[in-house]
Amino acid sequence: MLAIIGGSGLAEFAGLEVSHRRLAPTPYGDASAALTFGHIAGRPVVFLARHGDEHHLVPHEINYRANVWALRDCEPFGIVAVAAVGSIRGDLRPGDLLIPHQIIDYTWGRAATYHEGPGSAVHHVDFTEPYDQHLRRRLCAAAAAAAVAVSDGGVYAATQGPRLETAAEIDRLERDGADVVGMTGMPEAALARELGVPYAAINVVANCAAGRGDPGQRISLEAIHQVLEQAMQPVRRLIEAMLAADDHD
Ligand code: HPA
Repeated sequence: MLAIIGGSGLAEFAGLEVSHRRLAPTPYGDASAALTFGHIAGRPVVFLARHGDEHHLVPHEINYRANVWALRDCEPFGIVAVAAVGSIRGDLRPGDLLIPHQIIDYTWGRAATYHEGPGSAVHHVDFTEPYDQHLRRRLCAAAAAAAVAVSDGGVYAATQGPRLETAAEIDRLERDGADVVGMTGMPEAALARELGVPYAAINVVANCAAGRGDPGQRISLEAIHQVLEQAMQPVRRLIEAMLAADDHD
C-alpha cells in the first residue's frame, strides 16, 4: 500500500474510499491522528493527517517519530508527504506544485532520530539524497501522464516556525540554495530514511516567502488557506494517477 501524509489543506483526502480508521500507538507515543485506511484508484492506501484531524499541532509539536513509525508498521511501499511551502524562487507562484530533490534543515530541538537513548548504538544513516529517487520519478511521470504541472526538483528549506520568516532570513535561505521553505519536512524525511521507507514529497506553494511577494505585502493566512484549498485538487489527481499507473502495492 501507499502511505500518504497530508499537511495543511489536506487533513482528509477527498477521493479516498475509507474502509476503517485505527489509532496508532507506537513506542514513541501516539501519531498525530488515527490512521485512515482505504483505497484510491482501487489501490490500498493509509492516510495520516500530520497536524491532527483538527489541524491543532504546530510544526515543532508534531510527533514525527510516532507518525513515521506508525506508517512503517503498515508496511507501505513508500510514503508520499504533502506539505505547504513558501516560494523563494521567483518562478514558483502560489498554487504551483514541486517535487523537491534536496533538503536543508534549519530546525532545532525536535526528536529527530530513532537511534538514541539507553541501549541504542551510534548510527549515522546515509542521507545524501534525502528523497527516494524511484518514488520521485514515479510522481513526476504520473504528473506528466495526468497533465498536472509540477516542477521536477528543488531545494526544500525546513525552518522551525511556527512564525514565518523575516525577509532577511529568506534572503539567507536563497543564498544557501533553497527554492522553497516549509516547517514540516524535517525530521520526517530523515526518520523515514532511518526506517528504510522510501519517502518523497509534493510541495504545494501556498505563498511567496517573506519579502518575495508584492512589496510591503504581509503574508495572509486567509490567502494561504484559499490557495491550498484550490491546489489540493491537482495534488489528488497526481496521487490518483500515480496509483492508477502503479502495479506495485
Ligand atoms: N514559510 C515557512 N513555511 C511555510 C510557508 C512559509 O512562507 N508557507 C507555507 N509553509
